[in-house]
Amino acid sequence: MKIKISPSILSCDFAHMGEEFARMQKCGADWLHIDVMDGHFVPNLTLGAPIVKALRPHASIPFDVHLMISNPLQYVPDFLKAGADIITFHIESDSPVEETIALIRAGGAVPALSLKPKTPAEAVFPYLDRLGMVLVMTVEPGFGGQSFMPEMLPKVEAIRREADRRNLPIDIQVDGGISEKTVAAAAGAGANVFVAGSAVFGATDAAQMIASLRSLAQKEG
Ligand code: DX5
Ligand code: ZN
Repeated sequence: MKIKISPSILSCDFAHMGEEFARMQKCGADWLHIDVMDGHFVPNLTLGAPIVKALRPHASIPFDVHLMISNPLQYVPDFLKAGADIITFHIESDSPVEETIALIRAGGAVPALSLKPKTPAEAVFPYLDRLGMVLVMTVEPGFGGQSFMPEMLPKVEAIRREADRRNLPIDIQVDGGISEKTVAAAAGAGANVFVAGSAVFGATDAAQMIASLRSLAQKEG
C-alpha cells in the first residue's frame, strides 16, 4: 500500500489556517488531516464544516476529515458539501454504522471507520469490504501531543491480516503520537497512512520531517 503522510492541522497556527494548509501541501503532505471535535464525544472543541469549506480553496490535496463527534450521520452532508475527500467517523459514535458509510460513499467521498484504543480490531471486520480506510487511534482521541500507545500495534496487525486474507486493499491509518521514533513500528505492523500533528508542525523544517517520516515508513512497510 502506498505510504501517505497526513499532517494533523490541530497543531497548526489557527490564526493563519489558509496559509498553513498551502504550506503543508508545498512541504509534500499527501493529505490534510482535519480533526473535528464536538465537546461531547471527546472533551474538546475544534471546528466545523463552515471552516473546512473556507479552507478548501487553500489546498488541492485531499481533505482527510476525522469526525470525533457523537452524531456523524447528521453532519456528513455538511462535510461532503464543504469538500471533504475522506470522511472518518468513530464506531463508538451514536450513528448507525452501515447507513453512515453508505451516505459518505453516495456523496462521493471515501468512508473510513475509526477505533478508540479500548475497541478491539474485530469490531470493524463486518464493515471492511465497504470501507476505504480504517483508522486505529494510537492515543485516546481529543488532544494533540500525547504519547504513542505501542499496545495498539497488534490491532493494526490484526486488521491488516484480515484485509489481506479477504483481498481488500484498504488503507490503515494511525493517529496519535506518530513521530520519527514511532512511525517505523506502525508501518511494520501494517499501517500505511500516518497522521502527524506535533511532529510536523513542531519541526523546524516541516518538509524535511514529512520526507523523513515517509522514508522511515517506506523502509519498514
Ligand atoms: C487526536 C487527534 C489527532 C492529533 C494527533 O485526537 O485525532 O489527529 O491531532 O496529534 P499528534 O500527532 O500531536 O499526536
Ligand atoms: Zn485525528
